[in-house]
Amino acid sequence: MNIDELNALARAIVSQQKGILAADESGPTIKKRFDAISLASTEENRRRYREILFTTDGVEQYLGGVILYEETLRQSSKDGVPFPELLARRSIIPGIKVDKGTKPLALHPGEKITEGLDGLRERLTEYQQMGAKFAKWRAVIEIDERDIPTRSGVRANMHALARYAALCQELGIVPIVEPEVLMDGAHGITRCEEVTSRVLGALFDELDAQHVAFEGMLLKPNMVIPGMKCPQQANVQQVADATLRCLRRYVPAAVPGIVFLSGGQSAEDATDHLNAMNRTGPHPWQLSFSYGRALQAPVIATWQGQENQSGKAQQAFFLRCRLNGLAREGKYERSMEKDAE
Ligand code: 13P
Repeated sequence: MNIDELNALARAIVSQQKGILAADESGPTIKKRFDAISLASTEENRRRYREILFTTDGVEQYLGGVILYEETLRQSSKDGVPFPELLARRSIIPGIKVDKGTKPLALHPGEKITEGLDGLRERLTEYQQMGAKFAKWRAVIEIDERDIPTRSGVRANMHALARYAALCQELGIVPIVEPEVLMDGAHGITRCEEVTSRVLGALFDELDAQHVAFEGMLLKPNMVIPGMKCPQQANVQQVADATLRCLRRYVPAAVPGIVFLSGGQSAEDATDHLNAMNRTGPHPWQLSFSYGRALQAPVIATWQGQENQSGKAQQAFFLRCRLNGLAREGKYERSMEKDAE
C-alpha cells in the first residue's frame, strides 16, 4: 500500500467543485427506477441510460468519479468504447460497487449484514484490471424502536466495512466506506444523530484495528436528518448543524473527503444541505456528494426511456451536477432551481 498515492487519488476525486455520481444501482434497484417510467429493465436499456449520463457535455467539471455496477463496468458506448475508458478519457475516475447486498443478520431480528468479503481480493484485482480505481461498499443500519440497531449489529457491519477497506488499500484501490443510517422510520433528528455517532465511532475503531490508512479513503455517510415519517421535520440549518457536529466529533481530520449519500432526500434538499455545510467552512475534510437519486431522479423523469428526450435528460443531469458543484463552494441558492426552469 502506498498511502501517498491513495491520498492523491482520493483528493482528485473530491477536488474543487467535484463530487461523485453513484450510478451503481444493482439489478433490482435499477428495475425499480425503470418501473416508475414503465421501461423494461433490459441490459440494453440499462446501457442506453448509463450512456446518456456518461456522455453529458460539461459534467467533467463537477464529477471527479462515477461508481459503476459490475455489469456497467463491462459495457461500452454505442460506438464501442468501454465505459471505464470513456469516463477516464473525460478525466472522470471510474469506480466499482463491490458489496453483494444485504441479508438478515443471524439472531438479530430487524438488522442486516452486507455480504461480499469472500473472494473479494480476486474480484478487486479483476475490476482494477478493467480500469476501476476506487470501490464502494455499503452497510445499512436501520433505526427502529429503542434497541435497534444493537451494539453487535453495528459492530458486525463496521467490521465488514473495515475488512473491505483493508483489501482495497492493499491493492492500491481507494475504498469508499459507506455506513448508511437509513431515513426510513418515524425517529427524530436527535435519534439519528445519536445512532450516526455510534456508527461512526465504531467504524473508525474498526478501520484503525484493520490498519486502514484514513488518508487513503473516502467516507460516504448519511446526513443527520429526521426519519421520513417523523412529524417534526428539520430545516436546512438544523440538518447542517447536526451533521457537522456529528462529523467533527467522530471523523478524523486525516480523512481527505466526506461524500454524502442522498438517501431519499429530494434533489433540491440534498443540494441545499450540502451547500449549508460548505457555507460554514473551512472544514478538515472536503465536503462533497456521492449522490444516486439526488442526481438521477430528474434525469430519469425527463428521459422516460425515449430517444428523443435524451438531450433534455442530459440538460437535467448537467443542471444537478452544476448546482451540486456550486454547493461544494457554498454558492448555491434555492432560487437557482427556478431560474433554470
Ligand atoms: P442515494 O444518493 O440514492 O442514496 O444513493 C447513493 C448510494 O450510492 C447508495 O449506496
